[in-house]
Amino acid sequence: MMPSETNQVRPLHDLHPSPSDMLAEVTEGLSSHPKTLPCKYFYDARGSALFDQICEVEEYYPTRTEISILRQHATEISQAIGPDALVVEPGSGNSRKVRLLLEALKSPAGYVPLDISGDHLVEAADKLARDYTHLPIWPVCADFNQSIAVPQEASDAGRRLLFFPGSTIGNFDEKDRRALLERFAQLCRPHGGQLLIGIDLIKDTKRLEQAYDDKRGVTAAFNGNLLTHINRALDGNFIVDQFTHRALFNRAHSRIEMHLVSEIDQTVEIRGQRFAFKAGETIQTENSYKFSIEGFAENASHAGWRFERSWSDSENLFGLMLFSAERP
Ligand code: AVI
Repeated sequence: MMPSETNQVRPLHDLHPSPSDMLAEVTEGLSSHPKTLPCKYFYDARGSALFDQICEVEEYYPTRTEISILRQHATEISQAIGPDALVVEPGSGNSRKVRLLLEALKSPAGYVPLDISGDHLVEAADKLARDYTHLPIWPVCADFNQSIAVPQEASDAGRRLLFFPGSTIGNFDEKDRRALLERFAQLCRPHGGQLLIGIDLIKDTKRLEQAYDDKRGVTAAFNGNLLTHINRALDGNFIVDQFTHRALFNRAHSRIEMHLVSEIDQTVEIRGQRFAFKAGETIQTENSYKFSIEGFAENASHAGWRFERSWSDSENLFGLMLFSAERP
């Protein structure tokens, strides 16, 4: 059946991502030296709302800079991608940024938003469909860290363009980053395809550290909320006020590290397991890697991507990079 103006959102294609074992991951992280926690657990409802607020604070330049690059270079980006692309967005969330891309592209063949949360996905797809009445949309419920696939009908619609904005790639350590980029390349085989990806560029320490420690304390609240989330989900007894937010740029590893520092000697209990903290001991909660254009192009080349071109802002804060998949 041909899509009408109201039914272009196709039924949810569910890859049934396996749920994470939060207790095992939290226990493992708090038992290691130094202590760590997985950054994916930032994003409960309050964490997601706080992240939206971070994107608006003055010091956090990545979101508005990436949007301005997309706006300013829309014509060139569209020409470099060409007509009839099928836009695939892993981790599509609210599908807001993709609007700029869809507006720039010539006759996009369709949109495949891919997200772990099926409910949000359908809601975001419906919302998008109201404004893009002729665009076929194939929502896919999947964890892009596990497996990704495009429904057959979408597959036949056009050449794939993977869209991975927001410097989300920066939250992956080297091994996982490579594995993810390889998975993306795999999705383009055997027909080829492209990847448009946002990366945060290396810059002076002060600017970077301020972006992760804003004056209003939104990032500090976002970091602390990880403990609140654990308390709620795993019956933990963290006293959030007894941990302080710290963000520092580790230039040797080219990454911002976010930590929660224990103010005092204390013991925290989670589902009957006890974790001791010394005063000053930290939990590393997030790495956010920063790249040079050349460095990232080199990284991606090991995962099957050939660098085509990049766009940046006048201050070189952020980069949007376009790659094409190498033929196997
Ligand atoms: C989602 N991610 C790209 C953000 C970043 O900049 O690494 C997460 C974030 N953490 C603190 N502020 C923003």
